Amino acid sequence: MRYLMSLMILSLWGINSMAEAGIRESDFDSIKLYEMKNAKGMVVKVTNYGAIITSIQVPDRHGKMADVALGYDNVESYMNAVDKPYFGSIVGRYGNRIAKGKFTIDGEEYKLAVNNGENHLHGGVIGFDKVVWNAQELKVKNGTSLQLTYTAKDGEEGYPGELSVTVTYTLTNDNSLRVDYKATTTKATHVNLTQHTYFNLKGEGNGDILDHELMLNASRYTPVDAGLIPTGELADVKGTPFDYTTAKPIGRDINEAHQQLEFGGGFDHNWVIDRPEGNTGLVLAARVTEPQSGRVLEIETTEPGIQFYCGNFLDGRLKGKSGKEYVHRGGFCLETQHYPDSPNQPNFPSTLLKPGETYSTTTVFHFKTAK
Ligand code: BGC
Repeated sequence: MRYLMSLMILSLWGINSMAEAGIRESDFDSIKLYEMKNAKGMVVKVTNYGAIITSIQVPDRHGKMADVALGYDNVESYMNAVDKPYFGSIVGRYGNRIAKGKFTIDGEEYKLAVNNGENHLHGGVIGFDKVVWNAQELKVKNGTSLQLTYTAKDGEEGYPGELSVTVTYTLTNDNSLRVDYKATTTKATHVNLTQHTYFNLKGEGNGDILDHELMLNASRYTPVDAGLIPTGELADVKGTPFDYTTAKPIGRDINEAHQQLEFGGGFDHNWVIDRPEGNTGLVLAARVTEPQSGRVLEIETTEPGIQFYCGNFLDGRLKGKSGKEYVHRGGFCLETQHYPDSPNQPNFPSTLLKPGETYSTTTVFHFKTAK
């Protein structure tokens, strides 16, 4: 049977109890789960709580479908997950860390929520992953789109300026999931939006991802201190475990004695994407191949960096939607973004957004198969 491209509201994801943080009671009824399906049978599910991608079903080399995104089948589990893994969510207003939760714009210092040791991580205590977004279906050529909007208040989590954000997920018939980010502000502020899906191309819950083969189109990365804040250096990956310029299994060099791997508990770093001079469009950032299933994920982005985090903090305590444990390194994230702590790093590409400007970035996740 040929599937028609469709977007369906699957269910109300209403809940009965007040969750730990991040949601007002009046918002409960507006939490929904949306399903996008393309002509090839690929299915992506998204909830407007946190703009979270809850499921991505893609074929293997024999056409067998599996859900390759870690996550839950109910919103309460997202709200209450221990250690806040940010499964599938849109992270903002600033994805990644800002040193000591502080930055200065035009001589004025802003103090942000501090939620990761002494630093600010992923937008603060109630980041964009823990708020309810408005959702709207859009008709587009050769695909189906879900547009999510959220307006962050001036002062929310310490950031200046009211920020109006639009994130559009588009599933196309070539098994690509495109994410378009837009934002405008009423005061100068820092913005760095990203997508935090954990992938396991064997299928969520099917062991670790150490045998997935990863290629990163990046000859440099941003080394960090013990708190995972960049030192400011752009270091060559050549001759180090960080060299993924040629595809290799994720786990091949992960246990090498290297101070950066100690700091991250494995890979949890930002790579500097190699981009031809003057090119501001989409470039290939990463390719991941899972040898057993033949599933391949390619990521293109307009962003300058990509955080490769290989699930070092997963430890089997979280059980996903199919009841299986998410073991240590049971998923990897490839978060396209500007570099961590850019607001305090004058030599990094700027994340400053001023009134009158439009923040605009795009990332595309292409799902393919290899022989
Ligand atoms: C960060 C990790 C963090 C994880 C979950 C990733 O983006 O790089 O350090 O533990 O998100 O919060």
